[in-house]
Formats: sequence, C-alpha cells, structure tokens
Amino acid sequence: MDMKVRKAVFPVAGLGTRFLPATKANPKEMLTVVDKPLIQYAAEEAVNAGIEELIFVTSSSKRAIEDHFDKNYELEAELERKGKTDLLKIVREIVPSNVACVYVRQAEALGLGHAVLCAKPVVGNEPFAVILADDLIHTGKNCVLSQMISVFNDRHCSILGVEEVPHDETDKYGIVDPEESDGRITKLKSIVEKPKPADARSNLAVVGRYVLNPAIFKHLEQIPRGAGGEIQLTDAIQRLLQEEAVLSYRFEGKRYDCGSKLGYLQATVEYALQHPDLREPFLEYLVREFGQRARKFMRASND
Ligand code: G1P
Repeated sequence: MDMKVRKAVFPVAGLGTRFLPATKANPKEMLTVVDKPLIQYAAEEAVNAGIEELIFVTSSSKRAIEDHFDKNYELEAELERKGKTDLLKIVREIVPSNVACVYVRQAEALGLGHAVLCAKPVVGNEPFAVILADDLIHTGKNCVLSQMISVFNDRHCSILGVEEVPHDETDKYGIVDPEESDGRITKLKSIVEKPKPADARSNLAVVGRYVLNPAIFKHLEQIPRGAGGEIQLTDAIQRLLQEEAVLSYRFEGKRYDCGSKLGYLQATVEYALQHPDLREPFLEYLVREFGQRARKFMRASND
C-alpha cells in the first residue's frame, strides 16, 4: 500500500437545507466568503497539504462546482482581450495544473459514509483525506490538513480533526472518547455520531477533517444505517478503531461552521478583516457604524 496521502475526497452532494432559499438552485459549497466559494477554500487547503487529486462526490444539482474548477474559455478570452491580466491569473489559478479533479456521482442522499464509499473506486488502496467544505478553518501558514498529514506520516494511523464544543452541542457532531493523550494527539476508545449531551463521553467533536486508511471502506460496506437513517462515517470509524489505532488531533486554527448562518457571517467578517484590500475600509465602516450603535445601545440599556 502506498502510504503517501495524495488524494482528498470532498463530499458535496448534500442539500444544504440550513441555508434555504440561498441553496435552492446553488450548491451550499458555492456560498462565498468574501470573494471565494467555500469549496475553493477547501480545495486550496488540500493543495497546500500536497494533495494531487481532488475527488468531488457530487450530485445532479451541483454542476456549478464542476464548472468552477473547469476552464472557462469564453471568460478567459474576454479577459485576455481586455488585458485584464490580474483577473486572468485569478481565474486560471483556481487549481494548479498538476492537480487533477475527479467527479463521482452520489445517486442517493444516504449520508456522509455513503458519499465517502462512492469515492472508493477512485481512491483505491491508499490513505486519503476527507474535507467537509462547510467547516472553514483559518490557520497560520500550516493548514489543518498539512498538520494532520504530518501526524499521519509519523504514526500511519487514521486521524480525525477535533475541537472542543459546548457540552449542549454534542448532538450536532461525531463525538470521540479519548484514551491516552499526547498533547494534541489522542488515541481513541470510541466515537459516537451526535450523542445527546447527557450521553456524550466528552465534548471533543470531529469537525470536517479526516485522514483515513483505506480499511475504512470495508466497514463502510458493512455497516447498517445509523443516526438519521444514513450510512454514517462515524459508525465505520467506530468499527475501524476496534481493529487498529485511530487518533484524534486537536488542530491549531479557528473553525467557522459555514453550514450555519451565524458561523457563515462570522467567517465573512473575519476573512474580510484579513483581506488586504478590504481590511482598512471595512474596519473603518464597522467602527463608524457599529461603534456608534453599540454606544447608543449601551446608553439605552443604562437608562
Ligand atoms: C458530519 C459528521 C459529523 C461531524 C460533522 C462535522 O455531520 O457526520 O460526525 O462531526 O460533519 O461538521 P453533519 O454536519 O453533516 O450533520
């Protein structure tokens, strides 16, 4: 088995009902944070981590994603004709030429585990990453997937990206039960999909980044439907960790849940404040408008 992590799977067939009506005709992964769609941030993270093949598990209503990563001759010709070289560069460099994009259809919405299983013929017998584009994670130089692949190269175990979440939110996530801790890396005793707060063994939640050994596919093929009547990746991981070590990794970085309106708005503000052209005028606007409103609000609540 080739032990290098060269492929990343992006499950993008989900309906995005939390964002209706925006996601009625538009994939939720194409929602834009400042000037890039979420799926592009996810693809860039994979490319920065050395991934050479991006595998999108998609569905009939998600064609905009394929178009986004494809060449657009008309647009390029037009930008070239007008001498707009900066824009041309932006459009041409969405994915570097040495990185391949592969699309696999998930015909039925049977859950995250099923989506990952759909990628099996393309992944083959090698370790691979899974990135959920909803979870946008801001880091310094070293993106979360690079951090996780470094751990993988050292330990050769499947690794799940985790962070602590409020105790009353365990029923939104895969929750791990940690065994031995070694700083950021923890061996897992078990994992449960969306346990009620009263049943959760910890508040360490899996957030959209996985590096998995291909042994996961055998379990995905065998598990029955789990939470929500779906084939859950979490359930397959629970079986895998009974056979081989699975680690959780508390990544360095700040995660935004862009599948929720609040998380999406927070990401938009934070990313706008990091954008070289927007930072100053946007900050000025926020202070002018919201500083005043906040002062008024505080005065009113003191009266
Ligand atoms: C999925 C996984 C869950 C994980 C979460 C991270 O849930 O099933 O284990 O914690 O992503 O975002 P979903 O958000 O698709 O319901």
